Amino acid sequence: MRPVVVYSSKTGNTKKVAEAVQAALPEGTPIRLAPEMSDISDFDLVYMGYWVDRGTADEAAREAMAKITGKKVALFATLGAYPDSDHAKESLEKGAACLGADCDVVGTFICQGAIDPALQERMRQFPPDHPHAVTPERLQRWKDASTRPDEEDCANAASFARETFAKAEMLSGG
Ligand SMILES: Cc1cc2nc3c(=O)[nH]c(=O)nc-3n(C[C@H](O)[C@H](O)[C@H](O)COP(=O)(O)O)c2cc1C
Repeated sequence: MRPVVVYSSKTGNTKKVAEAVQAALPEGTPIRLAPEMSDISDFDLVYMGYWVDRGTADEAAREAMAKITGKKVALFATLGAYPDSDHAKESLEKGAACLGADCDVVGTFICQGAIDPALQERMRQFPPDHPHAVTPERLQRWKDASTRPDEEDCANAASFARETFAKAEMLSGG
């Protein structure tokens, strides 16, 4: 099983998770930024990471994902919302839908990631009737996200990497 890690990250959260994933995989597993993903025909298992942008994978990740065809894929993502929310589940489903033809998703992982202060500032300007206006619940979510991904998230990402690698090997009869 030849794995590769491909990810997109604007403020570093998904990068941190991607590095934890890579460190848990066999030594020498390459890691690439999504816009720099070139020929991946040498690999049969792609760890694809993105940050959630308006409920789906961010644009750079989507562009790379469309080019991934016929591979086993382990999807991971970071987002501002809670990882056990419907929004997180849908963001993974929408992400998976961005993959090219004939991919087999062998596992998914999602965790919170600190929200860019510039975005927080923009949202603070929204009027109270705006769907994304600041509410006490939203402020609490931002606060909870502000220290993520943390060590526990990275340990969970490493477990996800090891488990999906073993599963992919089993599926290939290896
Ligand atoms: C433009 C923009 C849109 C975002 N959209 C969402 C979203 O729809 N849902 C969500 O839970 N988080 C959203 N977030 C939060 C990011 O997904 C989260 O902070 C992520 O960890 C950023 O990852 P990065 O540091 O790898 O760029 C958004 C952030 C930005 C900047």
